[in-house]
Amino acid sequence: MAPIPENQQQALVSRLMKACGGAYTPETRRKYFISGPQWAAAYQGQALFHAPTRPAIGFEEIIRRYADIGIGYWATHDTDVIPTEILGTEGQWEIVSRIRKALSDHGVHCSMVTTETFYHAVWAAGPAAESPGVREYAKLRVRNTVDIGHELGASFAVYWPGSLGYFVQGAIDETSSLRWYADAINAACDRDVDVAARKNRPTLKHCLEAKPFEPQAEILLPTTDAMLAFISSGLLTRPEMVGVNPEYLHELMWGAAPRAALARALLAGKLFHFDINDGYRLKHDVDIGVGLVNPLDWLNVLVLLRSHGYNGPFNLDYKPPRTTSQFGVFEVSFPTAVDRFITLWEMAGEVLSDPIVKEATDALKVGGPKAPTHDAAAVTAANYELLTLHELIAHRLVQILLGLHRGRVFSIPSGT
Ligand code: GLC
Ligand code: MN
Ligand code: MN
Repeated sequence: MAPIPENQQQALVSRLMKACGGAYTPETRRKYFISGPQWAAAYQGQALFHAPTRPAIGFEEIIRRYADIGIGYWATHDTDVIPTEILGTEGQWEIVSRIRKALSDHGVHCSMVTTETFYHAVWAAGPAAESPGVREYAKLRVRNTVDIGHELGASFAVYWPGSLGYFVQGAIDETSSLRWYADAINAACDRDVDVAARKNRPTLKHCLEAKPFEPQAEILLPTTDAMLAFISSGLLTRPEMVGVNPEYLHELMWGAAPRAALARALLAGKLFHFDINDGYRLKHDVDIGVGLVNPLDWLNVLVLLRSHGYNGPFNLDYKPPRTTSQFGVFEVSFPTAVDRFITLWEMAGEVLSDPIVKEATDALKVGGPKAPTHDAAAVTAANYELLTLHELIAHRLVQILLGLHRGRVFSIPSGT
C-alpha cells in the first residue's frame, strides 16, 4: 500500500467507517437516555505525561455535533464552560444563556451538572479542607451548580470527590473531613429545595461518584459501597435526595465485579445515574469507550440493569484516545461508542428472552427433588446435575455475544 496523503486520510477513515456497517440512525440513538459530557468531547488527549493531540473545542460545536450524531443529552462540569473567575457573576449567566440557546437550537437536553472540585489550586487540600474558608467556597460552588442545573433544565447533579483524600497521612482526621464533606452536600440539597420550589421544578437527584485512586493517593470514599455507607451514615440531612453515580471503570479499578457493585446500589434503591466506559482491572483511569475491552462483562451488566428496570442516564464518561483526531472524535469515537452501547443493550434484551437461558435459570431456581433438610449429602445429590447449568448459561451468553446462537460455526478444512 502506498503512503496515504494527508488530504485523503479523513476520506479513508469515513469510507472504512461506512464499510463497518452496524450503525444506528440518529433518530434511533435519540430513543436511549444516553448523555454526552462536555469534557469527553473536549478532552484534548493531554493525560498525565502527554501533550494535547487535539485542538480546543467549545460547547456550541460539541452540542451541535452531539445533536448530529443523535446523542440527545449533554452534561457538564461548571468550569468546563465557565471560567473559575466568573463563576456566580453576571458573566456566568451570559454563558448559561448561550448554552440554553445552543441546546434548544439543536434539540439537546441538559441532563446533568457537576462541580469541579479537583482541578483548581483552591482544592489542593480537597473540598473538605481544614480551612473554613475553603469549605465555604466549596459550598458556594455546589450551590451555584444547583442554580445552573435548574436554569439549564437538568435533573441530576453529580459529585466526584476525587480530591477528598491525601498523599501523606496523619495531618487530617478523616472523620472531620467526612463531616465537612457532608456539610457541602447538605448545602447543595438545601439550595436545591429552595430553587426547585421557586421555579416549580422537581429537585435534582444528587449522585455521589467514587473512584478508588487518582488524583489523591488515598481517597476517603473510594468505592460505591463507601458512598452508600456515607449516604446512610446520619451525616446527610436529606439522604433521600442523594444516591450514587457508579462509573463502570472506577469499580473495575479496585478489582470489583461492576455488576455486583451495581446490584448493591440497586438493592439500596440508590442507583440514580451510571457512567459508562471501559478499561482494565487494577489499573489507572483509562476511560476507554464502552465495550472496547470487556464486552461480555458489559452484556452481563446490562442484563442486570434491564431486568431491574433501571431507567436513569447512561453517561458516556470516556476519553477518546489521543490517537483519534478531532475529526475522528465525531466521525468514529462517539458514534461507535453509542452504537456499541445500543447493541449491547438490545442484546441484553435478547438474553432475557432467550428460551435456553430462561429454562436453565428457571430450572436452577426450582431446584431438584425435596431431600431431608438435615442431610447435606442428600441435598447435594438432589441438585448436583443441575449446577452444570451455571457454565451452560455462561456459554450461552458468549454465544449470544458472538452471534453463535444463530448457528454460526467455522468450517475447518479437513486434514488440519
Ligand atoms: C471527572 C471524573 C469523572 C466524573 C466527573 C464528574 O471528570 O474524571 O469520572 O464523572 O468528573 O464530576
Ligand atoms: Mn465518571
Ligand atoms: Mn473514569
